Amino acid sequence: MKVLITGGAGFIGKWLIEKLPPDAEIIVVDLLDKQVHRKSHDFAPEIKARATCIQADVQEIEAHKAAIEGTDVVIHLASQTGTGQSMYEISRYVQHNANGTAKLLELISTLEQKPRRIILSSSRAVYGDGAYTDGKAIYYPKGRCLETLQKGLWEVCSSSGEPLTAVSMQETHLTKPTSVYGLTKLWQEQLLQSYCESQMIDLVTLRFQNVYGPKQELGNPYTGIIGIFTNAIAQGNPLEVFEDGLMTRDFVFVGDVAEAVVKCATHEETLDTVMNIGMGQAVTLLDVIQTISEIVGKSAQYTVSGRFRVGDIRHAVADMSHYKTVFGSWLPTSLKDGLTQYLDWYLGQEPLSQAALQASFKEMERTGLLLTKQG
Ligand SMILES: NC(=O)c1ccc[n+]([C@@H]2O[C@H](COP(=O)([O-])OP(=O)(O)OC[C@H]3O[C@@H](n4cnc5c(N)ncnc54)[C@H](O)[C@@H]3O)[C@@H](O)[C@H]2O)c1
Repeated sequence: MKVLITGGAGFIGKWLIEKLPPDAEIIVVDLLDKQVHRKSHDFAPEIKARATCIQADVQEIEAHKAAIEGTDVVIHLASQTGTGQSMYEISRYVQHNANGTAKLLELISTLEQKPRRIILSSSRAVYGDGAYTDGKAIYYPKGRCLETLQKGLWEVCSSSGEPLTAVSMQETHLTKPTSVYGLTKLWQEQLLQSYCESQMIDLVTLRFQNVYGPKQELGNPYTGIIGIFTNAIAQGNPLEVFEDGLMTRDFVFVGDVAEAVVKCATHEETLDTVMNIGMGQAVTLLDVIQTISEIVGKSAQYTVSGRFRVGDIRHAVADMSHYKTVFGSWLPTSLKDGLTQYLDWYLGQEPLSQAALQASFKEMERTGLLLTKQG
């Protein structure tokens, strides 16, 4: 099996390369974006040892055309991934994520032999605020508005002001992204869907929740809330928690994500599907802080600031039933076990600079995307 991984030098790519079958021939095309690869502008030695590495933007199709002829499976990971940043660096996100995917498809259309399967790393961001219920029906409420957030009313309510309960995200739910990042991930899905249908290529769209674990770039302040929390707790630095800290996310361990991608890549029969990939459990940010503190053995000095990021969603959790139907089971790593592995790795790394994190907050304040509740 010959596998092309775009964006393969990143966090999830590194794990994937390790977990693909040893006899798979791997080609990695990666720009080595400076925001992600801060320390070294070269492929990591373990990637070089295992794969043919091409440093290029996916948009520069001439740079990797020859190398990918004869590819069986394409795993498209290359993307800019900062949700907040996507709200002001809009054209950059559209270029890399949407045009990057379009160019990849143009390249595939010139190949003599088309790949058998394409796997896209999409995101839960395509669901936006997701679905809610009042116990009787399912609703897709309009996103939280500025006026209510400024009053510190964080939960999603019905049009008559009644609080609603979040429903686990199902693949059949409506897609209605609340960020430019989410929109570009949806465009990636749609571009691939329309192309793959016309070419009879088996398309597998995986919608990842919040992926965490060892090897996640610590120097990138735009992604990875777990890295930011861990850093502050381990260094004994003050930590700011937005809103009231009770928003929930579904944190899925990177090893589980990589195994799911490998399962899809090596599956014999046609899959032709969209699948959620999450742990399948909602956890509040305060729970995450508590768990990290217990593992590190230090109490967190955190402040619940009441600041909020415009466009942030309140709750997210994946319904993993579809994955279980397709593959029989889903036995994810628990948050405690995953964080313990993360902490073991983290302690050998250079910590995230507080200055970089504060600069990213300043940038969001300047662009009107990080606000404070009134009163
Ligand atoms: N990590 C998460 O929590 C998460 C959640 C949902 C979806 N995803 C998706 O999974 C994929 C991988 O995410 P990750 O966490 O490994 O991110 P990452 O930033 O660590 O890796 C992305 C890689 O893509 C490369 N890249 C970016 N733009 C490129 C371009 N135009 N051409 C070539 N290479 C380019 C970067 O250099 C980087 O190595 C992304 O598509 C992301 O949208 C990730």
